[in-house]
Amino acid sequence: MDDCCGRGQARYDEVFDDRFAGDLARRYRRHGLTRPERRIAERVESAGIGGTSVLEVGGGIGAIQIELLRRGASSTTNLELSAAYEPSARALLDEAGLSARARRLIGVDLATDGSRVPSADHVVLHRVVCCYPDAAGLLSASAAHARRTVVFSHPPDNWIRRSLVRSVNLMMRLRGREYRGYVHSPAAMYDVLRSSGFSLDGVVRVGAWRVASARRA
Ligand SMILES: C[S@@+](CC[C@H](N)C(=O)[O-])C[C@H]1O[C@@H](n2cnc3c(N)ncnc32)[C@H](O)[C@@H]1O
Repeated sequence: MDDCCGRGQARYDEVFDDRFAGDLARRYRRHGLTRPERRIAERVESAGIGGTSVLEVGGGIGAIQIELLRRGASSTTNLELSAAYEPSARALLDEAGLSARARRLIGVDLATDGSRVPSADHVVLHRVVCCYPDAAGLLSASAAHARRTVVFSHPPDNWIRRSLVRSVNLMMRLRGREYRGYVHSPAAMYDVLRSSGFSLDGVVRVGAWRVASARRA
């Protein structure tokens, strides 16, 4: 397991902490994937899942990866900037009997450190671009690591979401935390994938999220 503890990672650790991870794991054990997660898994599956590899950026407890392994993926790699998910993620993989096919790397940022990360057939990012300042850099690196598809979720760019993110960021600043949320332009993010050689298959609305999928053209 790789580990690095620069300030970049600490700002994620303090928000995406043990409690956050524990809540996600409890919810997943009780209810399985959320609707957006199910949609992401379906998009990957429909592109051909049997015997493929999956790279998930910011995959948290790894629920989507577990489901994709169950559906026939041969291996998964999870990149995370917060170390807090590891006990829950390991327990879930063990319970599912899938630990041998899952690799988890902590503190590796694909946008800045992509050479350390192997390519995969499918690259997935759920609720991640909105936590990262350079969405274009992260998506461009995701595309460069994807042999077949990139599937990612993002929030809509509307005034409600922008106000929400502004309030959260104010709260973070008042608490002395470095973490910030973002509402990136969806059109600009799709353009990054197109200019990386992908064609956009579709964008669907799933609750508060948009799920976009792109295939290598
Ligand atoms: C809102 S959480 C979502 C976690 C998980 N995808 C889920 O939906 O439950 C966002 C996660 O993205 C991670 N993250 C943000 N930028 C990242 C990057 N460049 N590489 C890896 N992880 C990243 C954060 O550490 C955080 O755990």
